[in-house]
Amino acid sequence: MKIVVTGGLGFIGSHTVVELQNQGFEVIALDNLSNSSVTVLEGIERITGKKPVFEQIDLREKAAVQDFFQRHKDVSGVIHFAASKAVGESVENPLLYYENNINALVYVLQSLAALPQAHFIFSSSCTVYGQAKQMPITEDASVQPAISPYGNTKQIGEEIITDTAKVTGINAILLRYFNPIGSHPTAEIGELPLGVPQNLVPFITQTAIGLREKLSVFGDDYPTPDGTAIRDYIHVVDLAKAHVVALQRLLQQKNTEKVETFNLGTGTGSSVLEVIKTFEKVSGKPLNYQIVGRREGDITEAYANTDKANTVLGWKAESTLEEALASAWKWEQRIRS
Ligand SMILES: NC(=O)c1ccc[n+]([C@@H]2O[C@H](COP(=O)([O-])OP(=O)(O)OC[C@H]3O[C@@H](n4cnc5c(N)ncnc54)[C@H](O)[C@@H]3O)[C@@H](O)[C@H]2O)c1
Repeated sequence: MKIVVTGGLGFIGSHTVVELQNQGFEVIALDNLSNSSVTVLEGIERITGKKPVFEQIDLREKAAVQDFFQRHKDVSGVIHFAASKAVGESVENPLLYYENNINALVYVLQSLAALPQAHFIFSSSCTVYGQAKQMPITEDASVQPAISPYGNTKQIGEEIITDTAKVTGINAILLRYFNPIGSHPTAEIGELPLGVPQNLVPFITQTAIGLREKLSVFGDDYPTPDGTAIRDYIHVVDLAKAHVVALQRLLQQKNTEKVETFNLGTGTGSSVLEVIKTFEKVSGKPLNYQIVGRREGDITEAYANTDKANTVLGWKAESTLEEALASAWKWEQRIRS
């Protein structure tokens, strides 16, 4: 079965391509390489023994998207990762984000709706919940007004898909990721942040390897046990596997609604200081860090209630925080060697 993975050379996309190929799917990866490198294909090949078909397409080009799907009417499903994802950049350049994350989505859906097998998986985010009132967060927690254009693109994206599925043959699953970290255990593929990382774990590994002088911990006065913010860190391989399970649910027509939503997390919250301590333990390296003031827009805590994914999808995150951090560290050492 032929599956299209947009953003297939990116961080989560590349790990998902690996898991799809491991399950025997034929993958076509689409990417414009705006935040990835074509060498990722070799990493995927070294892990799976197979290089996926790759087409360099910018999904903002409507004609290119239409042309692609005209040539591939036998596609069985699309997993849509392609998007811009830097929250700060989205505040500075909102139109870039609306163009890339919304226009591209619309073009892909227009083409997909015309296909006989219109199965669609969407990369959404726990940012849609804002600071939820209750922990852990269930899928029916209310969606809060977005605090950044990036977050808004995820909310609007979910709405566009829901409206479209009502009146087309599209069946969709919205996957709300918590905090993906780590790399493939082989260290053949991993996260390649451009510039200064916005996320905690790449910043930790870059500090540990000597690329950054020190890690800033934003705030130790949150109402949490150690005062630092709490997130739900999920190993990217577990996350990738959830995409395959979700796709199979659609392909086997087991979905009970045209659009279903699942949280993807571990169900456990870890504070920034816990992540630092765990990293120091698995790497054997003391980390140079400093507590500074809170960062604007950061919330106190977010971790998932994963019951729905566990019971309905039959998927559960398996890796520990130690394993995820060890894989991130192995990857950092590999790319800097
Ligand atoms: N990484 C996270 O923390 C996180 C959390 C929640 C949701 N998400 C979402 O998951 C998805 C994947 O995230 P990621 O971390 O793998 O990001 P990434 O930047 O590593 O991967 C995205 C890929 O899409 C490609 N791309 C971007 N715009 C494109 C376009 N117009 N045409 C073709 N290709 C394009 C990029 O080159 C990149 O390879 C995104 O939609 C992101 O918003 C990520």
